[in-house]
Amino acid sequence: MSGRDDFATRCVHGAGAPDAHTGAVVPPISLASTFAQDGVGRDRGYEYSRSGNPTRDALQECLASLEGGTRALAFASGLAAEDTLLRTVCRPGDHVVIPDDAYGGTYRLFAKVAQRWGLEWSAASVADPDAVAAAIRPRTRLIWTESPTNPLLGIADLAALADVAHSHGALLVVDNTFASPYLQQPLALGADVVVHSTTKYLGGHSDVVGGALVVSDPGLAEELAFHQNAMGAVAGPFDAWLTLRGIRTLGVRMERHCDNAERVAEFLTRHPAVTRVLYPGLPDHPGHKTAAAQMRRFGGMVSFQVAGGEPAAVAVCNRARLFTLAESLGGVESLIEHPGRMTHASAAGSPLEVPGDLVRLSVGIETVDDLLADLDQALAAVADPGTARVPR
Ligand SMILES: Cc1ncc(COP(=O)(O)O)c(C=O)c1O
Repeated sequence: MSGRDDFATRCVHGAGAPDAHTGAVVPPISLASTFAQDGVGRDRGYEYSRSGNPTRDALQECLASLEGGTRALAFASGLAAEDTLLRTVCRPGDHVVIPDDAYGGTYRLFAKVAQRWGLEWSAASVADPDAVAAAIRPRTRLIWTESPTNPLLGIADLAALADVAHSHGALLVVDNTFASPYLQQPLALGADVVVHSTTKYLGGHSDVVGGALVVSDPGLAEELAFHQNAMGAVAGPFDAWLTLRGIRTLGVRMERHCDNAERVAEFLTRHPAVTRVLYPGLPDHPGHKTAAAQMRRFGGMVSFQVAGGEPAAVAVCNRARLFTLAESLGGVESLIEHPGRMTHASAAGSPLEVPGDLVRLSVGIETVDDLLADLDQALAAVADPGTARVPR
């Protein structure tokens, strides 16, 4: 972060000034699917809501500002954003380097959908720029990364990966979902495209699904905007409005997520039933220094491995009470899940398969002592396997 830090102001005011006619301090939800034109070829900036919608525009402007890009585009989901990006920049026969640790649905998009249309991929550890460089082929078009990665919380050196990509004529794509723009702004580190599942920290309340692409290059922005309209997977106005409402509190929520996650990670490192804690804020995390250099803080996601293998990990998930057993992340409420059987089940048998003894937490903004007490009682399942089959 350089210069004066006005991020929180941009969160609150990013949706624009109060309504010019009524003074309403929040933007209206423009539900119209079509807009009256003053004459053939003479519209007032809007024609048809797939092509352009005022509420979606307000969200897009806000996202571009938060990520420091020239333009943002909002989609119906994170995967819709990813699909639009792939079909805009890649052609059959092109190749993409993907992380060997990434969201299972992203892997599924590459392996089960895009591959059938001729897009080749190979997986590499994004924590190791040399491994990524070694995976590059003559037709590599994109290096795709997450940082922190989902679910193993690996850290990629984004500036180093941008150098690798650009020296091979490829683009660096960063899925910034886990960090949010409050903690990390990849475009400033050299990335070409930022991807978001706005479903997560940006929305922040587990009540809306959405996605976004943010770019610096105006030419790429034009191409993506063309495909956003031509392919049609746009964010609806009500979804855009809910996401904007969530963004207003992004800064304060992220601070609290980070406070609580730090305490949870620290608690887990001392627990006898836990064999390994994966959190970039811990000084012994292999990516700690890089994370400290490129992130404001270390985020709200914590993963850990338990003694007793997969049955113990499943038992911990089943026993948690305040941590709700659910997929997704980034909302105000704490969630717990078993990635191997839930979010990352589609990566089984692939280079992205996750360990069976892994538990992933999305640490919410509740009173932290209540969260620690819940984890303590849930981890008793590992200490006492007789309780492991207690149903929820
Ligand atoms: C890191 C990451 N990227 C992308 C996605 C896909 O987003 P969506 O579920 O909004 O399609 C997810 C969903 O969990 C995710 O965790």
